[in-house]
Amino acid sequence: MKIVIIGQGGHSKVINDIILSFEGKVIAYLDDKYEAFFYQNDQYFGPISSAKYIISKIKNIKFVIGIGDNKVRKSIYERLALPTEFYATLIHKSAIISQSASIESGSVIMARTVVNANTRIGKHSIINTGSIVEHDNRISNFVHISPNATLTGSVTINEGVHIGAGATVIPNVSIGEWSVIGAGAAVITDIPAYRTAVGVPAKLKIKNVTEDVGV
Ligand SMILES: CC(C)(COP(=O)(O)OP(=O)(O)OC[C@H]1O[C@@H](n2cnc3c(N)ncnc32)[C@H](O)[C@@H]1OP(=O)(O)O)[C@@H](O)C(=O)NCCC(=O)NCCS
Repeated sequence: MKIVIIGQGGHSKVINDIILSFEGKVIAYLDDKYEAFFYQNDQYFGPISSAKYIISKIKNIKFVIGIGDNKVRKSIYERLALPTEFYATLIHKSAIISQSASIESGSVIMARTVVNANTRIGKHSIINTGSIVEHDNRISNFVHISPNATLTGSVTINEGVHIGAGATVIPNVSIGEWSVIGAGAAVITDIPAYRTAVGVPAKLKIKNVTEDVGV
């Protein structure tokens, strides 16, 4: 599989490792740190705006937005407005995915994760290294489940939510859109939208997450 990674920061390095795990090839990095489009050492580089040019130049390519920040990932997705079929779904070779789970385009599943039965994962979400996503979860678009987090059964994670590293969410809990759960939290009640919750058990922090999620 020939992949173009959009964004060339830390998260893109981990995505590169996913691609290497199944012997795919990164043919280009697009990042706005580049002003011009160029070819070097068997790879293309250029600004994000060169996505359509690369589509016209190279056949059978897929894109992934390799940016860990959920808001930035969504804003680039909206800016590019590429058809869904141009985005890859990337799954590390060491991940364990139930045959009854589904994962939509643009999402990335890192090394040693487990995604169990009847879980649904939306578009452009990140299931990060070593996290456990149990049965019957509903994970929306532009979500980030950080390393070593655990979503137990029938959890609902709405758009743009960030679950911090090592956090645990007990069964049947729902996390509102664009909320943030702190690293190490234990979430035992529903969390409203645009809030941050931290601690064991998780409590809402006073300050809200900004509602400005536009481009
Ligand atoms: C929850 C979080 C987003 C808060 O960030 P923030 O808004 O910048 O908050 P601050 O660092 O200003 O801390 C505010 C308060 O919350 C507390 N707090 C912050 N994170 C906490 C956490 N994970 N658990 C418990 N308390 C936490 C701070 O101690 C501070 O308490 P105080 O008001 O009594 O002094 C952040 O601390 C966090 O946990 N992020 C997860 C990062 C992560 O897992 N990334 C994975 C990338 S792959």
